[in-house]
Amino acid sequence: MGSQPSPSPRAATALAAAAEGHDLNFAGQPRGWTLAASASPSWSRAPVFVRRAAWGEGRPPPWGRESTDTDLTYPRDHEPTDPVVVVTSPPSSLHRNNLPPAQRAPFLKSRSTQQDTAAMTIATELTRRLGIRVPVVQGGMMHVGTADLASAVSNAGGLGIITALIFPTPAALRDEIRRCRTLTPNPFAVNITLLPAMVPPDYGAYAQAVIDEGVRIVETAGNSPGPVIAQLKKAGVTVLHKCTTIRHAESAVKLGVDFLSIDGFECAGHVGESDITNFILLSRARQQLKVPFIASGGFADGWGLAAALVLGACGINMGTRFMCTVEAPVHQRIKEEIVKAQETDTTLLLRRWRNTSRLYKNKVALEALKIEQESTTGEFSEIAPLVSGKRGKEVFVNGDPEYGVWTTGQVIGLIHDIPTCDVLVNRIEREAESAIKERLSLIKSDSKL
Ligand SMILES: Cc1cc2nc3c(=O)[nH]c(=O)nc-3n(C[C@H](O)[C@H](O)[C@H](O)COP(=O)(O)O)c2cc1C
Repeated sequence: MGSQPSPSPRAATALAAAAEGHDLNFAGQPRGWTLAASASPSWSRAPVFVRRAAWGEGRPPPWGRESTDTDLTYPRDHEPTDPVVVVTSPPSSLHRNNLPPAQRAPFLKSRSTQQDTAAMTIATELTRRLGIRVPVVQGGMMHVGTADLASAVSNAGGLGIITALIFPTPAALRDEIRRCRTLTPNPFAVNITLLPAMVPPDYGAYAQAVIDEGVRIVETAGNSPGPVIAQLKKAGVTVLHKCTTIRHAESAVKLGVDFLSIDGFECAGHVGESDITNFILLSRARQQLKVPFIASGGFADGWGLAAALVLGACGINMGTRFMCTVEAPVHQRIKEEIVKAQETDTTLLLRRWRNTSRLYKNKVALEALKIEQESTTGEFSEIAPLVSGKRGKEVFVNGDPEYGVWTTGQVIGLIHDIPTCDVLVNRIEREAESAIKERLSLIKSDSKL
């Protein structure tokens, strides 16, 4: 590690307090964080988690990232003047960007012992405009996208999204937004999905609840989003619109959306009717679209993020991967089923009614598919009991993967564990950084060949 400068007097004071389990702010007053009782008096050798160390403007905070005692070092030419705080609990509420500038600590370089990546941040138009640290979005998910998951993703540095239609009324959505605020100080969004229904929900009232509650980012999806997008844009909300074709994306651009979320044929849920996978769709988006786009469908790790960035996207959107995290409100047995499953374990349903959905390939889905393909009447009512949302929702509660139909993407084959959102998002960030660096090293100057 080379020689280290001594801690400044203020850093020394904070560390001495931390060693006793107290946390002091820059003025030496208590801040109330949970600190390691055994915080190292040697500030350059952080034993566990570093929540707020000396850290530079515009750099990713290392909070929540597990650190060994050798992977934190100050650059020699930059002696820190602010306190170093060492904590045992992972971060929940104090994202550096939410601290007043005066409380933000100066520059610290973090150096991983395994890969030289930890001090980097992937800054894209998505991170800049949404005020998030990592260009990873958790897509809206019926039955899954509650404040518990959304806040965990936002706390991890990504963009968590509450799914409006999980809540039976706009008033219930308001309560959930308020609950989310108690769980994270970071930006989060709300998904409003407009799907064909005999009696459609009052989408305008849901949008108004979002606006009134001061949520600044909304993900829209589904049919005829024009009126809702107009309502949101009038209120100054940033709109991410999810779609499965370039034609729909261009229509959304005309409606004034800020970002497009391009959902490839691999994705979970409504795949659209044109079956274009992301390899084509994302490149078409890059060639054609005049607004930034997020790659959605088929992403689970940092190699996927790196590939999406190279194809021109400004971030990724993930559904199935976030469904299989500790914080997702889904029965443990369903998460274990996802871990066991392979990329071939999904099926498409409802194509006959031009409402094609990608679902987990279980007995109920296959039974419904058989009826869809063999019915002579083509009456939707023949399969309606099998594909009912109520039955699908129950799967996530009772943990029986065969109880009803449930949504998952082909990316299910890339999911091998059930991490916390914090571990997952940090891992994706690190993997993407190292994937990009590794691939960059393939480029040699001609003179060295
Ligand atoms: C369980 C589940 C429910 C979903 N529900 C919705 C929804 O209500 N609205 C929506 O726009 N997208 C929904 N999606 C799609 C995701 O937001 C996201 O676009 C998709 O999962 C991306 O594909 P991936 O699963 O391969 O990451 C859902 C996905 C899953 C897995």
